[in-house]
Amino acid sequence: MCSQPDAKSPLLPPKLITQRLILRPPTVADAEWIFRGYAGDSESVRYLTFRPHANASTVRTFLEELLAAHDAGERVRFAYVLALRDAEEGAPGVGMIDLHWDGPSSLGASLGYVLATPHRGKGYMTEAGRALVEAALATEALWRVWAVADTENVASHRTLERIGMSYEGTLRRFIVHPNVQSTPRDVYLYARVRSS
Ligand SMILES: CC(C)(COP(=O)(O)OP(=O)(O)OC[C@H]1O[C@@H](n2cnc3c(N)ncnc32)[C@H](O)[C@@H]1OP(=O)(O)O)[C@@H](O)C(=O)NCCC(=O)NCCS
Repeated sequence: MCSQPDAKSPLLPPKLITQRLILRPPTVADAEWIFRGYAGDSESVRYLTFRPHANASTVRTFLEELLAAHDAGERVRFAYVLALRDAEEGAPGVGMIDLHWDGPSSLGASLGYVLATPHRGKGYMTEAGRALVEAALATEALWRVWAVADTENVASHRTLERIGMSYEGTLRRFIVHPNVQSTPRDVYLYARVRSS
């Protein structure tokens, strides 16, 4: 979808700041650490929808497409790099998080995320996820942020719960996770909604 932002567009700020993190827009310069940190690692992408990247150049292509879509006026996918606030200028990021909105007719948006392997187990995704979900639900257009996780992805279930999402049910045969099997798998659906 290409459109000018309108009053109902859930425009999120380009940067969000939490206690330990800065959530900032990705750039093509992020390709190398993303490849080394998770995109080239088969365990990290096990429950994601793509196969491991073979090199950083295909990650760069992905980032170029993401940035081109944004520059073209598509304001439906809000992707952020998680960077440590106390890191030096130009230091590698620690992960990515994104919110996908279907456009002005949709009252909800879906959340996706991944952390680079050295940065897991420290609560970074809980911190980033809470900030992004709260910013999204504070916009006029969004009433619901939801996420799905493979029924076997226990670390992600825990993360979604800590972000403040509630389990809503199991969606059967919902999505293909090609690193696990070639046919659609069951996922758990979680959501956090605006109360008023
Ligand atoms: C999901 C993800 C962001 C969570 O990262 P994290 O914040 O470092 O999470 P933690 O390592 O602290 O684990 C979260 C919880 O799951 C538990 N856990 C982690 N791996 C587990 C496993 N294999 N089995 C059971 N429990 C597990 C941890 O003990 C922790 O539990 P607690 O809340 O009771 O302390 C990270 O694992 C990741 O990037 N995974 C790959 C990408 C991915 O799957 N993204 C989500 C797609 S839906």
